[in-house]
Amino acid sequence: MKDVKLTITLNEKVSKDIFLMKLEGDVSEVKNCGEFINITLPPHYLRRPISVSNFGPGYIEILYKVLGQGTKEMSLMTAGQSLKCLVGLGNGFNLRTDIKPTLIAGGIGVAPFFAVLKYYNEKGIKPQMIYGARSKDDLVLLDKLAEMSDLHLCTDDGSCGVKGTVLDLIKEENLSVDYYYACGPYRMLENLAKSYPNGEVSLEARMGCGFGACMGCSIKTTKGPKRVCKEGPVFAASEVEF
Ligand SMILES: Cc1cc2nc3c(=O)[nH]c(=O)nc-3n(C[C@H](O)[C@H](O)[C@H](O)COP(=O)(O)OP(=O)(O)OC[C@H]3O[C@@H](n4cnc5c(N)ncnc54)[C@H](O)[C@@H]3O)c2cc1C
Ligand code: FES
Repeated sequence: MKDVKLTITLNEKVSKDIFLMKLEGDVSEVKNCGEFINITLPPHYLRRPISVSNFGPGYIEILYKVLGQGTKEMSLMTAGQSLKCLVGLGNGFNLRTDIKPTLIAGGIGVAPFFAVLKYYNEKGIKPQMIYGARSKDDLVLLDKLAEMSDLHLCTDDGSCGVKGTVLDLIKEENLSVDYYYACGPYRMLENLAKSYPNGEVSLEARMGCGFGACMGCSIKTTKGPKRVCKEGPVFAASEVEF
């Protein structure tokens, strides 16, 4: 973990309420796909945890949805401004190459998968990707995702892809899911884990410190309480007691 000041070099609106931000600086502590950063937004006391969407030498990208005051303030920032961030937080996905990977994203849960896709593509693997959202307008960066994955879409209202949930899509298109990596709403992850225990889920929790000191983000697992910020945010699907 490192406390760094990063410079915004891009803050682009990619849907009505989702932004892609590129931050440059010392991100040498960011090592694994699925990690997160924790952003200081004065005068707010608590930092805002956001997944690393993509990373490379000297930069990270984050994809964030405007939800409350903090993310609204982020959306108004421009290139050249800086953000104080704790980087190198959380454990990330255990990206396996001995299985056919399936990535499952719900809504803004698509964020961490750009780095995951880059990882697999560099190994010559094009993962199967299942991406669901409320409506067509909530699905973002589809051209990029289609280039990098075998992409299957669904929406709650049927405005794009299969009408229904990611589980409905798996059944309707008869997709095989050997081993998956999932990020999205709690209920989606719970239903997935119950039907398909063979995978990993990235969880969210309200966080105090964000680095393992306050126990504020503990969840129940089959191996006892675990902290989303430290042992997580990625857990074996079979391990989480939803
Ligand atoms: C590990 C992790 C990764 C995340 N990755 C992303 C991401 O890539 N993109 C994205 O858009 N969002 C992500 N979130 C959710 C993001 O943290 C919240 O949307 C954001 O903190 C809201 O801040 P706000 O000030 O706009 O909202 P407010 O509601 O004003 O926030 C008030 C407080 O509640 C906390 N809070 C609110 N919603 C959440 C939430 N869902 N999870 C955790 N804390 C919350 C805030 O951090 C803040 O401390 C992630 C959350 C976690 C825990
Ligand atoms: S937020 Fe403090 S231990 Fe996780």
